[in-house]
Amino acid sequence: MQPYSNQSRKKTVSEIVDTKKKGDKLVVLTAYDFSIASIIDKNDIDIILVGDSAGMVMLGYPNTRPVNMAEMLLFCRAVSNATNKAMISVDMPFGSYQKNIDEAISNAVILIKAGADSVKVEGGEEIFDRIKAMVDIGIPVMGHIGYKPQTSSMWNFSKAAGKTKESALKLLHDAKVIEKAGAFSIVLEMITTEVAEIITKNISIPTIGIGSGPACDGQVLVTYDMLGINQDFKPKFVKKYLDLNHLIATSVQTYSRDVKSGAFPSNDNIIHMDTKEYEEFLNEYGLRASK
Ligand code: KIV
Repeated sequence: MQPYSNQSRKKTVSEIVDTKKKGDKLVVLTAYDFSIASIIDKNDIDIILVGDSAGMVMLGYPNTRPVNMAEMLLFCRAVSNATNKAMISVDMPFGSYQKNIDEAISNAVILIKAGADSVKVEGGEEIFDRIKAMVDIGIPVMGHIGYKPQTSSMWNFSKAAGKTKESALKLLHDAKVIEKAGAFSIVLEMITTEVAEIITKNISIPTIGIGSGPACDGQVLVTYDMLGINQDFKPKFVKKYLDLNHLIATSVQTYSRDVKSGAFPSNDNIIHMDTKEYEEFLNEYGLRASK
């Protein structure tokens, strides 16, 4: 619902598209929970993507294919409860838009009612009709081409798209079809820098790159990757801004030591009873004060 006060106002589709026209960059990060989304939303991010990467990062699935609507709904609600400024785009999970237009619309509406401002779908020409149908009834859609985790051979990061002339032509064609269907932006995942640049220059809607080079109109990273929470996941395109894995591990070890040694809880962390109440309590039970 549009807020009555102007204290909080979400980024709109036209503002996102205008960012490209002005030549400014779009900044996008993923979030799946209230606490992280609250921090991100206060720090100059245009779009929060509730990606189905949540399935891997939050639920431990081996890839994004098992993620279902119920799970995405929960992540969507949590992020929506925290977000006042950024546009929220929510991934439609695998199987929720592939079957037919009606199912795609029903599932997109469910996500919008749960707080999504837009939805994201993976695919090119083959999902033109579904993108168009959703846009026609007023649901903003973000496209996603190149490496498509829901259907590309599972997480093989050596398989960047756009390495050959055929692949480059197909990607450019798909980007134009997605634009024609009415999408307001497109994620370009793992596409060669040259092709990402050509796509970006040849469509009017913003491209948001992940592993697709600097010419894209914006960049997206999985927040947990850029915070360095998973030590084993190190694709070339991720820049680690923090070693959160190390910080958490060190804090957990210190906490464990403190509890075992009795250093925690200290006087700073405890609640005392009122002295008079305490004495009366002891008297009532015939105990001697030890305080
Ligand atoms: O699911 C996700 O987080 C994504 C981004 C990697 C673009 O689709």
